[in-house]
Amino acid sequence: MERAIIIGAGLAGLSSAIQLAEAGRPSLLISRQQSERAQSVLAEGGINAALDTMGEGDSASQHYEDTLRGGAYLADPNAVAGLVRHAPEIVRSLSELGVPFNLTADEDIMLRPFGGQKKRRTAYAQSSTGKMIMTALIDRARSFEGSGLIKRLPHHELLRLLISGSRCVGVRVRDVFSGRLADISGSVIMCCGGMNGVFPGMTTGTTANTGDAAAALFSQGVRFAGLEMLQYHPTTIGIPGKRCLITEAARGEGGRLWIKKKNGQRWYFMEEKYPELGNLMPRDVVSREMYFVRRQQDTEGEVLLDMTELGKEVWGSRLSDMREEIKSFTGLDPAETPIEVHEGIHYFMGGIHTDEKHRTSLSGLYAAGECACQYHGANRLGGNSMLGAIYGGRVAAAALMSDQPEVGEEQPIRFSLRNDEDPLSQESRGDFEQALCRVLLGGLGIVRSGELINAALEGLDELEKRGLSPREKNKLRLGRAMLLSALERRESRGAHFREDFPETDDSQHSTVTAQIIGGEITLGRFEIPVRRAEPEHERS
Ligand code: FUM
Repeated sequence: MERAIIIGAGLAGLSSAIQLAEAGRPSLLISRQQSERAQSVLAEGGINAALDTMGEGDSASQHYEDTLRGGAYLADPNAVAGLVRHAPEIVRSLSELGVPFNLTADEDIMLRPFGGQKKRRTAYAQSSTGKMIMTALIDRARSFEGSGLIKRLPHHELLRLLISGSRCVGVRVRDVFSGRLADISGSVIMCCGGMNGVFPGMTTGTTANTGDAAAALFSQGVRFAGLEMLQYHPTTIGIPGKRCLITEAARGEGGRLWIKKKNGQRWYFMEEKYPELGNLMPRDVVSREMYFVRRQQDTEGEVLLDMTELGKEVWGSRLSDMREEIKSFTGLDPAETPIEVHEGIHYFMGGIHTDEKHRTSLSGLYAAGECACQYHGANRLGGNSMLGAIYGGRVAAAALMSDQPEVGEEQPIRFSLRNDEDPLSQESRGDFEQALCRVLLGGLGIVRSGELINAALEGLDELEKRGLSPREKNKLRLGRAMLLSALERRESRGAHFREDFPETDDSQHSTVTAQIIGGEITLGRFEIPVRRAEPEHERS
C-alpha cells in the first residue's frame, strides 16, 4: 500500500502519522533529527483548550474570539472554529496518553492564564509541556512502528518535491551523514516547522529547522502566505547560538515587567497602559511596548522581568524547571533577582498557504504545524501552537485520506549513490546565513517602514552578487518574499507594525500571498473566508 510521506517528526508530523495509522494507512516519517530532538520538545508554557475546569464559564466560542482577535482577524474563521471545538477532546486524550498535566485539588486538569486570553485556558505540565506531550506521542507512534504502519527515515533532509504535471508525487531526500540521495513516491504532508535557520541566533526555535525545505518548496512554485508576520516573543534571553525562551507562564503566574525611570522609580508600563490584561497582553503588543519604552528619554537600561514575588507553590510545582534553566544560563536566581529580557523571534505565523483542510496550492501536497499558514493570522496566541500542530496534523491526514480513498502499491525507494547529483545537496556556508539574517532584520524588525524594507531589499541585491549556491539562492528568494510581503502590507496589523502606516486599514483585511510564477516572485491577496457558524454549532 502506498505510504504517505511526512516531512518532519515533531508534533504535527507525529499527529499526522498517528491519525493515518489509526485508520490503517501507512506512512513514512522523514526527519533530519529524531522526534526527541524536534523543536516541539522546547515548547514550554502549555496548550489551550476551553476545558473550563477553573469554574470561569469558559467556552469554545470565547477561545475562538480570543484567537481571531489576537491574530488581528487574518486567520480563517472556519479553520479556527474547528481548532477550538476539538481542543478539549485533544487535551483530554493527551492526558489519557499519560501527559502529566498539573492538576487541580479535585484532580482535574489545571489551567493557567496566558497572553491575550480573558479566561484561564492553558493546560500545562510545569514549564515542560512540549517535552511531555512529545514523549506521549512518541510512545503512541511506537505502537504503530511495531506493526510497520509507521516507518521512519531519520537524518534525511528534503531537497525538493517530485512534481508530475501539477501534482506532487513524492520527494527527493538526502542522507545528511552519507550524502546519499533517495527518491520516494507518495503524497506528502509537510510538517517541517518554522524557518528559524533564516535568522540564525535570533530565534527561540532550533536552527536545526533550517528553513531549507520551505525555501525549496517556495522555489518550486508552492504558494506561501503571511510571510511578513514574524512573532517576537517579549521575554527571551541571549544564549550561545540562539535566544532562550522565558515562558509567558512566568507572567501568567504573576511575573511583572518594568523598566527603570531616570528618576530611579520602577515603571510597570504594561500594567499602567493596559489595565485589563497588563503583562499578559498579546505578544505583539508587549514586544512593541518594550521596544518603545527602552527608547524613551526618561528611562534607562533594559526591561526586567520581575518574578521575585512569586510564591513557593509556583516555584515548587509550576515553574521549577524554568527557574533551573534561568539559573544555569544567567547564574541568577529569578526568585531573588529580576531578569533582563529582550524580544526574540519566536514563531512564523506565515508559511505554506493551506486551505481549511490543510491542502496546499499543489495537489498531493499538504502542510501542518508551524510551516503552514493557517490558524494564527497576524499574531499567534501563546498555547495555540501545540494545539494547531496536533489538530492540523490530524486534519491534513484526514484530507489526504479523503482525496485518496484508494491506495496504490508502494513503490520501492530509488537510491542514488552520487551525492553531487542534485545541486541542492551542497550545504550552505554559515557566513551567508549570517549576512542574510542581518539584511532581513533591517526590514523585518518590530518597527518597520517602507524605507527600511527597501534598504533591506537593496541589501539582498548586493548579497546576490556574491555568487550563491542553489540552496543559498532559494533561501535568499524566500527572504525577499518576506520583505516584499512586508512592503505590500501598507498598514499596521498584529505583528506587522509600520511607522509610516501606523493604523490598521480595513481595506487590507486579507492575506498577502507570495508565489514564484514564471521565475518571478508574484504577490497576491487572498480574501479571508466568510465565517459559517459559531464553533459550538458546527459539525466536524
Ligand atoms: O511562552 C511560552 O511558553 C510559549 C508558548 C507558546 O508559544 O505557545
